[in-house]
Amino acid sequence: MNYERAKEILTEHKQAHLLDYYDELDGDARKLLLSDIEKLDFSVLKNIGRTSASKYGEIRPIPAVTLNDVALKKDGYEKEGLKLLKSRKVAAVLLAGGQGTRLGFDKPKGMFDVGVTESRSIFSLLIDNAISVAKRAGVYFPLFIMTSTKNNADTVNFFKQNAYFGYPEEEIHFFIQNTEPACSFDGKIFLDEKYKISQSPNGNGGWYSSLKSSGLDRILKENKIEWINVFGVDNVLQKICDPAFIGATALSGCNCASKVVKKTCAEEKVGVLCEEDGKPSIIEYYEMPKSLLELRGSDGELAYRYGVILNYLFSVEKLNDITHCELPYHLAEKAIPHIAYGKKVNPGKPNGYKFETLVVDMVRLMDSCLAYEVEREKEFAPVKNKEGVDSAFTARELLRKNGYVI
Ligand code: UTP
Repeated sequence: MNYERAKEILTEHKQAHLLDYYDELDGDARKLLLSDIEKLDFSVLKNIGRTSASKYGEIRPIPAVTLNDVALKKDGYEKEGLKLLKSRKVAAVLLAGGQGTRLGFDKPKGMFDVGVTESRSIFSLLIDNAISVAKRAGVYFPLFIMTSTKNNADTVNFFKQNAYFGYPEEEIHFFIQNTEPACSFDGKIFLDEKYKISQSPNGNGGWYSSLKSSGLDRILKENKIEWINVFGVDNVLQKICDPAFIGATALSGCNCASKVVKKTCAEEKVGVLCEEDGKPSIIEYYEMPKSLLELRGSDGELAYRYGVILNYLFSVEKLNDITHCELPYHLAEKAIPHIAYGKKVNPGKPNGYKFETLVVDMVRLMDSCLAYEVEREKEFAPVKNKEGVDSAFTARELLRKNGYVI
């Protein structure tokens, strides 16, 4: 794209300020900027000012496979799950493209050291768990790791330096998630540098489209993978490709499944799995009316009691059916470094929007979802914050309770 065409397009979208420093740039920098402009997708900007999707349909609690059900049927579930794993019908996707701003750690979150007496990164804990399952199945499963343009190099190097934590290198596949432009509250796209448009990872909902655009879906096709276990990086007790979970889902006939834990109280800040107009739906705690959050059933328990822990199983066939469906964009208010008046500014508080799609929104598109209850104390130790709830401190406590020597 040449300068004139770039100017024309930007003017049409009221973004001509992106060329403010063009005259100062040398030839290579100009090329970089023009190529960034050529790739820009302005359509996300339409989401600014749209009221968030807080108007829901008819909401009902969702029935779940409870801890008791699992205890009774565990052998059958595990047998089925191990059968699928053994025949390499299952792959896993680790979502590690987030920026972990709440934790305030400047490296990929998976590199965070939760060890006390010895070094123990989150990545090493997760891979240890994956290896234990692979050993039970007698075969390794393909493990895809989604990174972002911002943390890919650090992540890949860390895995290399640590010999992939013992997982076969040929079974680990990194891919970089797609990005969207970041902009000010009034919709002006930021420059990250005078020659570079500010781009941010497009949220964890972009994992399947990013995997496909990376070309790695050929591995799914070659292996005729039927199920993908998708999980977040920041739960140090995450159980990856849990055979019982896989088996229960496959036997249920559902297109997807979500691990859930019973909420500790009505106000707990987790998304809740429920039914909306007969379809599975995950409603964020801040979008759910208080009356529903606090509603109790005849057994005295919270009616909407199942919180999600970012561990899902998706049917590949159904994922391929819904690739044409668009996920809604959520506007995340963030502090976005940018160029202003010729200088780099690092704002201390949110100054604009990043556009993110969320994996929770995929669940609704899947049409059916098995809620599979797990023990919180054994499977949910998130590392989100620097201190207090869901911090390294609480995660270490839970690791110790589960017999880890850290
Ligand atoms: P979070 O919602 O906790 O976001 O991600 P985050 O960026 O890691 O942390 P904060 O909000 O800035 O503190 C939940 C999971 O989704 C992944 C994260 O890596 C984590 O596993 N994620 C999030 C992505 O892979 N890509 C994204 O764009 C966002």
